[in-house]
Amino acid sequence: AKFTLDATKSKKISNTLLGIFFEDLNYAADGGLYAELIQNRDFEYALTDKKGSDASWNSTKAWTLKGETATYAIDTINPIHSNNKHYAKLSIQKVGAALTNEGFDGIAIKAGEKYDFSVFARSNDAKSAKLLLRLVGKNGEIYAETTTQSVTANWKKYDATLTAKATIADASLEIIPQMTGTLDLDLISLFPQKTFKGHKNGLRADLAQTLADLKPKFMRFPGGCVAHGDGIGNIYNWKNTIGALEARKPMRNLWGYHQTVGLGYFEYFQFCEDAGAEPLPVIAAGVPCQNSSVGGAGQQGGVPMCDMDNYVQDILDLVEYANGDVTTKWGKKRAEAGHPKPFNLKYVGIGNEDLITDIFEERFAMIFKAMKEKHPEITVIGTVGPASEGTDYQEGWDIATKLGVPMVDEHYYQPPGWFIYNQDYYDQYDRSKPKVYLGEYAAHLPGKPNNLETALSEALYLTSVERNGDVVSMTSYAPLLAKDKHTQWNPDLIYFNNTEVRPSVGYEVQKLYGQNAGDEYIPCEISLSNTKENVKNRVAISMVRDSKSKDIIIKLVNLLPVTVNPSIDFKNLNLENGEVIKTVLKGDPSDKNARPEVSTSSFSGIKNAELPAYSFTVYRIKTV
Ligand code: AHR
Repeated sequence: AKFTLDATKSKKISNTLLGIFFEDLNYAADGGLYAELIQNRDFEYALTDKKGSDASWNSTKAWTLKGETATYAIDTINPIHSNNKHYAKLSIQKVGAALTNEGFDGIAIKAGEKYDFSVFARSNDAKSAKLLLRLVGKNGEIYAETTTQSVTANWKKYDATLTAKATIADASLEIIPQMTGTLDLDLISLFPQKTFKGHKNGLRADLAQTLADLKPKFMRFPGGCVAHGDGIGNIYNWKNTIGALEARKPMRNLWGYHQTVGLGYFEYFQFCEDAGAEPLPVIAAGVPCQNSSVGGAGQQGGVPMCDMDNYVQDILDLVEYANGDVTTKWGKKRAEAGHPKPFNLKYVGIGNEDLITDIFEERFAMIFKAMKEKHPEITVIGTVGPASEGTDYQEGWDIATKLGVPMVDEHYYQPPGWFIYNQDYYDQYDRSKPKVYLGEYAAHLPGKPNNLETALSEALYLTSVERNGDVVSMTSYAPLLAKDKHTQWNPDLIYFNNTEVRPSVGYEVQKLYGQNAGDEYIPCEISLSNTKENVKNRVAISMVRDSKSKDIIIKLVNLLPVTVNPSIDFKNLNLENGEVIKTVLKGDPSDKNARPEVSTSSFSGIKNAELPAYSFTVYRIKTV
């Protein structure tokens, strides 16, 4: 093989090419990235959350009362907040009974670490009644113990700290009221003090760090399907997800479970800031998933037109929440949440894989026009329709082009062969039309987990995306996170349980791209001794320069079963003295656990590069 790189023909490419797409799917939020350890902390789980029949999925899910000396029921008569109607009412005859929470498949604790407990409680009967708190093991072993202050007559929040004496994966929380009579409890919460960046109501440190390690340039949230919901009443409303936890409005997750929205818009913005990623909230285009209509006649599958002004205003308010100063109505709420400085929102997505119908177009156009008029500084990202094989997204593209939408979101999940044979996908894109956000993509082997073959086909395809980085502005693999035993969608980028994080091999490809991004593309010609289509398509190169570090990065993918020895012609580039870091990901195509190896190399090492069979090689050349 011969590669000829020509620096005189370099072009500017997007500096936000690799990002992440977070959706609460596969328990990615509650029980996942959101560090809350108590499941159903607010007794708001409902039978209607769950797909299929599961009678145990109700307000008492994950809770049991241990001991004969008390009873408990769920009440709604006088809640802390009307958004949070259900609470536990205990009737205690004799001290000793324990209200117990099993967590999300157990509560994982680490020896020596501290855990913040909090609860809203009230009791008219209590006479200096404290709550004894314990973290216990399966056989009643006590791993942590403390008490709250005495509970009084009106709803009040009580805090306490528990310090774990041992490391175990499946503790449960016991609350043992030291009183008799009736006691109301709600929003029972337990967080590790060690969250990502130490935030209260924060994120699980190991998972958040795994995401931050990708060096994502942006993060799209809260979905996907979760953003537009499966009916008008299920459209994700950002305003329900900010402010005091007891006042947030929990909701059904269309993936068949429950969203506390404890991980809400403030937390998403905060994580973006912590990870150095531009926030990219996606709001439904006034239509739910596939324009599904819930709500009766006249609604025709979209938000009724008489409600659209308010709907549009909510989106304008979001921009004020993120960027307005503290004297504005919504900017003040952000400041009250602890972030007086703006979040510097630059992008807003409108719509997700919607059916491109008149119902969609009418609503999308209303939102787009209002955003353009009131917030021309924000890049609105539209959608070109559902991800289905064979779609050319034509109608979506036509509407976006007609309206002058600056960027559109495309999605595709395809077998590795599709990625191998469609590396020219964006070469033909009309540069005068909207730019592209490839918001969801992944190589799928039907019925099989992802492996080195899928990862390398993604790596190969991403070389073509870098080459087209003048028209493709952003990409994000999907889905991102999947919890063991709670996975509705496979494959995913990162698997986890309560104690482990297991990035897939595809994650390593994303990380290599994220950590080796550039903003200038240097074209390259490849000539191969074997010119057969199926050989040619399996070897690819991309070379970029990062204007900040001045580093030059060469990415080489070999999806052939044999070693390839390319000769690379660095025509107009003088790189002889550069220090070179070489990273290689290689293995058997079926390998699910291949990890990259890093070494240093000399420049002549690149000239005599050997690309192992089934490998992805990244050279990072220091030029200063
Ligand atoms: O990524 C999983 C789902 O795939 C998303 O929610 C949706 O947008 C797409 O259909």
